[in-house]
Amino acid sequence: MAEPQERTGELPGARPGERPGQDARGLRGGRQGDPTRGLLVVGAAEVATLAGGLRRGAAQADPAIAPPGTAIACLDGRIVAVAPAAEASEALAAALEAGGRDPRAIDVLDAAGATVTPGLVDAHTHLLFAGSREGEVAMRARGATYLEILAGGGGILSTVRATRAASDAALLAHGRRWLGRMLQTGTTTVEAKSGYGLDTATELRLLAAAGRLAAEGPVDVVPTFLGAHAVPAEVRAAHPGDPAAATEAYVAAVIAEQLPAVAAQGIARSCDVFCESGVFTADQARRILLAARALGLEIRLHADELAPSGGAELAAELGALSADHLGAPSAAGIAALARAALAGAAAGADPAGSAAPARDVSTAGRPVVAVLLPTVPWFLGLDVREPARELIEAGIPVALATDFNPGTSPVTSLPLVMTAAILTLRLGPAEALVATTVNAAAALGLADRGALVPGLRADLVAWDVPTHAQIPYWAGTNLARAVVVRGRLVAGGLAG
Ligand code: NIG
Ligand code: FE
Repeated sequence: MAEPQERTGELPGARPGERPGQDARGLRGGRQGDPTRGLLVVGAAEVATLAGGLRRGAAQADPAIAPPGTAIACLDGRIVAVAPAAEASEALAAALEAGGRDPRAIDVLDAAGATVTPGLVDAHTHLLFAGSREGEVAMRARGATYLEILAGGGGILSTVRATRAASDAALLAHGRRWLGRMLQTGTTTVEAKSGYGLDTATELRLLAAAGRLAAEGPVDVVPTFLGAHAVPAEVRAAHPGDPAAATEAYVAAVIAEQLPAVAAQGIARSCDVFCESGVFTADQARRILLAARALGLEIRLHADELAPSGGAELAAELGALSADHLGAPSAAGIAALARAALAGAAAGADPAGSAAPARDVSTAGRPVVAVLLPTVPWFLGLDVREPARELIEAGIPVALATDFNPGTSPVTSLPLVMTAAILTLRLGPAEALVATTVNAAAALGLADRGALVPGLRADLVAWDVPTHAQIPYWAGTNLARAVVVRGRLVAGGLAG
């Protein structure tokens, strides 16, 4: 492979059509992309390690900044050392030698003046779908609401029609396209929900596509089954004039048909339900999620996105990995999440100083991560404010995600979501960084990423600003200078 400085083709692992090149600036050494070589990231103005595990309360604002001069050594996809440059370099050489390799086989990424953070984790997306729904933006501008459009057979259901008609190849191409965009703005792990099939065959196809994209990399994809996203048109038609009966019939089908097939397929890691007044009730969500758990899936839910619907209460009751949206949780729901967070702390589910949160407790009583999606109310033009400050003050760990989907958030950039959270939810920049790294990894039950700590995955980003506080400040500008996944430079932005 050519020297990185001279490369004019695509980056290793780059997706078709991606812009190559600029990101390789500053990389010295041998053949980048050779997985047997080490990578040493030096020269950063600031290294935000996010070490110390899941954050909540006041700790949500702690980015764990390393001392000046800290370098990061990576080998075989993992972080080997986070230490002063000479020490990190020695540790890397020693690790190479211990593996019988040339201790000089080290590429150096000069992050001169940059801020280095862990790779960002997008803990809530609807990555896989076909088509687009820009027409609904105009309908809403004329006064239609999101749920009215859905009730009229549009919204999610129009994407379901397009998705069922799409080929596997088209779905994969779509997934690659948007994962490539996410990678360019620093996202290295993406949760991907099904939910635009709403029949067993298409739900399985969507999960298979997510699994294939995960295997392709470089972005890691974490698949979630969301069969209970809406009631499909054919089930509605089978119960004319009785939407409640249609919903019940569909819930029964999700439990009896879809879930066993999804579990047998073995790709989905968790199960989600759109628990919302007018969609699926908390009781229906409970039945689906308990059935999912019995089949070995983790559980999470769309909770109280638009109205208090018992979603937050249910997430706490079941010990879900996450309660997502929370645009309008009830006071009782917030109190229940706060109790779960406290119980989790007492049970030691959040060991202080650990590399990442323990996630071995799969029952109620562990902290449920509140995954907030502030671009949704913005994109829907709703005056909804996810109560981020209230959640943090109640001791509930908070994450942020894009909710990438064609209806409520066609947004791929986590830095833009951080900006929205700062401007609309009053998070601080460090809180927003915690919310897109270590807490987001916890929301996915992943203890192997989200922080720059030896032993964890070598996923990191060098941002073209001297402090993490500026990542969301330059609103809408892509500042990712270099994106490293598993110790390999895979993308970069438009560093001048
Ligand atoms: O997270 N709320 C449900 N699902 C998505 C929107 C899906 C769509 O409109 O296509 C959400 O907002
Ligand atoms: Fe969503």
